[in-house]
Order: sequence, then structure tokens, then C-alpha cells
Amino acid sequence: MSGFFITFEGVDGCGKTTQAKSLLKKFSALNINHIYVREPGGTVISENVRALLLDNAHANMHARTELLLFAAARAQIVEEVIRPALAVGKAVICDRYTDSTAAFQGYGRALDIQMIDAAIQLATNGLHPDLTFLFDLSLETAKQRRENAGKSDDRLEAETLAFHQRVRNGYLQIAQENFHRFVVIDAENPVKTQENEVWEKIYTFAKDIGFELENKK
Ligand code: TYD
Repeated sequence: MSGFFITFEGVDGCGKTTQAKSLLKKFSALNINHIYVREPGGTVISENVRALLLDNAHANMHARTELLLFAAARAQIVEEVIRPALAVGKAVICDRYTDSTAAFQGYGRALDIQMIDAAIQLATNGLHPDLTFLFDLSLETAKQRRENAGKSDDRLEAETLAFHQRVRNGYLQIAQENFHRFVVIDAENPVKTQENEVWEKIYTFAKDIGFELENKK
């Protein structure tokens, strides 16, 4: 039995968490066995690493340290949570995964792409998502949404506009290079429109990989 591994990606403030949560509701309503996790985090060890990564006190964190910490948090959640869930046929909805590393550490921090690929391989041992949604929107709208949410910026959110622009462009590039598993959603659209687009893709893709959505109702 093998599950369905879905990841949600985008710049900070793109609305992916809202979308992931609506998908969860849909899965629950259909009695589809699933779990929701977020990265970095999702296990005790990974949540501790998350705290290190996002702490504004760590402004001096080196880019390679950052890469390794994201990788460490990921290795733990992959082995402790994601692989076991997929192995028993569950759908796994993961809020950020390897494409975040490629976009933020690769494009944002401009670390060498081979180094990024090696860190990703080390962390995942080759576990790739089946389907990835990229929520793309202008950085102005993203910033506005973050401000409306009223949360203060963490260490990565506090990065320069140029950094976030590289991340956004990087994501679009990654989506093109991996078009077989990527769906780019226009995150400027109303929440409901995006929800419908996501569900339509999930539905079609599930059929393609033989993951049963209907019989589990
Ligand atoms: P996120 O959980 O989306 O933040 P929030 O809960 O505040 O919306 O992600 C935390 C931050 O970590 C985000 O700025 C993106 C960054 N990140 C990376 O730089 N590399 C990675 O590999 C991952 C998973 C996240």
C-alpha cells in the first residue's frame, strides 16, 4: 500500500496554510485517511530545530548552518512521521518541504545548487512528493497578508525584499523544471477559487496514481 504525498509551497504570506487546512477538511469529510504536517517541525526534535531556525536572536546564522538545520529537521520528520504514514496508505499533506530549501537556501541565500541537492538527498533519502502546489503572488500582496495576520516577522520573514524576490523567482523556476509534479496556483485569486483548483488537481492526480478517493467515502 502506498499513500499520496502532497506538498504546499510559496513565499511567506502566500496563503498556503489556509489552503492546506481546507484540504484537510475536505479529506476528513470524505473519510480519507490523512495527516497534516508542517516544516520545519512536526516532531519534538524538529520543532526544537524550528525554534533555533526562526529565532530573531540568531541573525548571525551562517547560510550553511541554516541549510543543515533545515535538513536535520526534515530527516527526523521524514523517518518518524511521513514515511510511516505513506507506508500504511495515508495521504500526507506537508506544509513546505524540499522545494522550500531549493527556493530559500538555493535561490534566496544563493548557496550552490549541488550542495542543496546533496542536503535534500541526505534529509529525505530520496522521498519525493507526488504532487506540489505552488501558491504564487506578488510580494506586496504577501506582505499585506502577513501584516493583516498581525504576526511579527520571524528571522526569515524579516529578510530583505530582494531576498524574497529571489525566493519567488526561484520557486517559479523550480516549478518549470519539475512541471510533472507542480501545479502553480494564482494566489491573488479568491480563497474559494484556489480551493476548487486544488481539489480538481488532487482528484485527477489521485486517479492517475491509483489513490482511491471515492471508495473511502
Ligand atoms: P513557515 O512554517 O511557513 O512559517 P510561518 O508558520 O511563520 O508561516 O516556514 C518557516 C520559514 O522557514 C519560512 O520563512 C520558510 C523557511 N524555510 C526555509 O528557508 N527552508 C526550508 O527548507 C523550509 C522548510 C522552510
